[in-house]
Amino acid sequence: MVARPGRRVLYSPPCASRWNRKLSWLWFKALPTVGDAGKEGGRRMRKKLFSEIPTLTGERLVLKRLGPADAEPLRELVDSPRVYRWLPTFLFEKRYPDVREVIGRLYTECLESSLILGVFRDDAFCGLAEIYGLRDPIHKVSVGYRLLERCWGQGIAGEALGMMIDYLHTETDIEIITASTMVENRASAGVLRKNGFSLVVHGVDEDWGYEKPTVADKWIR
Ligand SMILES: CC(C)(COP(=O)(O)OP(=O)(O)OC[C@H]1O[C@@H](n2cnc3c(N)ncnc32)[C@H](O)[C@@H]1OP(=O)(O)O)[C@@H](O)C(=O)NCCC(=O)NCCS
Repeated sequence: MVARPGRRVLYSPPCASRWNRKLSWLWFKALPTVGDAGKEGGRRMRKKLFSEIPTLTGERLVLKRLGPADAEPLRELVDSPRVYRWLPTFLFEKRYPDVREVIGRLYTECLESSLILGVFRDDAFCGLAEIYGLRDPIHKVSVGYRLLERCWGQGIAGEALGMMIDYLHTETDIEIITASTMVENRASAGVLRKNGFSLVVHGVDEDWGYEKPTVADKWIR
């Protein structure tokens, strides 16, 4: 068979289960396409994720680096059991009891695996937007977000996620964006759907740091 430019060269990975089939689709998406040589040049022009701490400006929101002045609202976020009931236990903002220490380490220690930006509206802190789980060879990354309770229900998460997607696709070499939600988290599922994510796996057991496995949904865009 002669491969045409722009067509993916398809191998046949083993697809023993539904989960494997979903994964092999991801794997297929990550394959280079014939004729990608030209695109590679473009890719190299794009920034590598984590090579900068970006400031993203949207219609209502700004996503930017946190500073010492954000300690008080960050403490409000971290102390909210309702915010963290459907989140993993190991998020960086929970690593140190003093949130000032968290902020001081966000763009050094945390940045080794995760970029966490503050979400601001009218200069007021509303929550966190996170980009993590980079798999450089396949240009894949995961995203997450959590907002102060008083900021829920105003379209802020949806807008912040849209800004992250836009940044990743236009400014960096990221091509695949994934997210995980607890199956109970209907609000987060709505935020993902509104931003063009598709559910690829429903109800898979994952280790989110709790005593028992967390039953999660996996999303891709
Ligand atoms: C999940 C969370 C980020 C949603 O933020 P938000 O700013 O309130 O969400 P949005 O206002 O952008 O909602 C976007 C869509 O989600 C859906 N949605 C929002 N809240 C919902 C709810 N409680 N139940 C069902 N759907 C909901 C709606 O479809 C909404 O679309 P609409 O504007 O057409 O109504 C926020 O509730 C939060 O911080 N929760 C705690 C942390 C968390 O769970 N983070 C996600 C982990 S995966």
